[in-house]
Amino acid sequence: MTQGSPGRQATSLFTERFGSAPTALVSAPGRVNLIGEHLDYNGGPVLPIALERRTVVAAGHAPSWRAVSALDGELQGVDPNRLETGRWQAYLVGVIRAAARIGITLGGADLAVASTVPPGAGLSSSAALTVACARALAALAGRRTTPEELIEVAWVAEHDEVGVACGRMDQTVAVLARPGHALLFETATGVVTHHPFPLKVWVFETGVAHRLTGGGLNLRRQECETALGLVRERGLAVPRLADVPEGELPRLLRTIPVPWQLRLRHVVSETARTRAAAAAILARDWAGLGRLLFAGHQSLRQDYQSSCAEADLLVEASMQHGAWGARLTGAGWGGAVLALLPEGREARIVAEVQEAFRRSYGRVPQVWWTRAGSGARSER
Ligand code: GLA
Repeated sequence: MTQGSPGRQATSLFTERFGSAPTALVSAPGRVNLIGEHLDYNGGPVLPIALERRTVVAAGHAPSWRAVSALDGELQGVDPNRLETGRWQAYLVGVIRAAARIGITLGGADLAVASTVPPGAGLSSSAALTVACARALAALAGRRTTPEELIEVAWVAEHDEVGVACGRMDQTVAVLARPGHALLFETATGVVTHHPFPLKVWVFETGVAHRLTGGGLNLRRQECETALGLVRERGLAVPRLADVPEGELPRLLRTIPVPWQLRLRHVVSETARTRAAAAAILARDWAGLGRLLFAGHQSLRQDYQSSCAEADLLVEASMQHGAWGARLTGAGWGGAVLALLPEGREARIVAEVQEAFRRSYGRVPQVWWTRAGSGARSER
């Protein structure tokens, strides 16, 4: 990693605060989901890329737990018996407990964290943190972990311990991503395939922070379970909502009331769009991919009702000024919009979109781009 990178930052923070060099230095990426939103807990396919932005954890042996983040620089003791949601240390406690379940037990550790993944932007800063922490603890314990174990520890930490009703998309891409590739993850079977994906992905941050522990995702998950029950009552014995055949939709939508019919329609149409998007990537049909992304956004807005006005404006303005496609990414209710922009026209489109946003909201949104990055790794 280069000068000023989170790797250097975590190392110097560690040395400064704990007075020695770290024993382990590991990193994991955030992600941007190209398409396949809210499908990972409904048994459908998802198609994320890892960001080039990463979270780095520097770790060393210690008799008790202490942690410091470059975000606030505050050194704090961590008690694995106390998990306070709403603080970043909750994820750390979650990982300590989840790792213990697979036999990674340590009496303590010193941990320094630095990151370039923006928190609360729907870019999976939490999975970057939990995956990097899990890998750091395994390294300290001298335990070789399989990718599946790392994914599971990070997922259990967030799902069972912190209490977010997430699926496994974020942890899977944070562990398994390959540079220059999008990852098609069939969540029902666990099958992962890597599709070459050379494009830049532009990220517009709405500046509206979403809080996963705040409930929107948990509520949608319950609604999807209810929708599945209603589908089965109508004689369709499907194991998961994403298994409902598209051809059955007209019949089901006639009798299933809102909001469940809307959630069902999103899950079924998004499943079809995601598989079509994977095919478009293989065919290098970027305009076709863009149209699917935009259709995916409409579905999030109208059927899943997980968008927000700021994201809608960013998507509309991107499309109006010549993007191939644009879409809210991640859980929603704030967070970030991704856009695919034709080469050579990027600067002009970005300026137009920023100006449109400024006219409505009086501030200029953060914008940056990434290519598909790599999964979790040791930094030395
Ligand atoms: C969050 C969850 C993921 C996934 C997305 C929506 O990021 O952590 O598991 O459900 O929302 O696609």
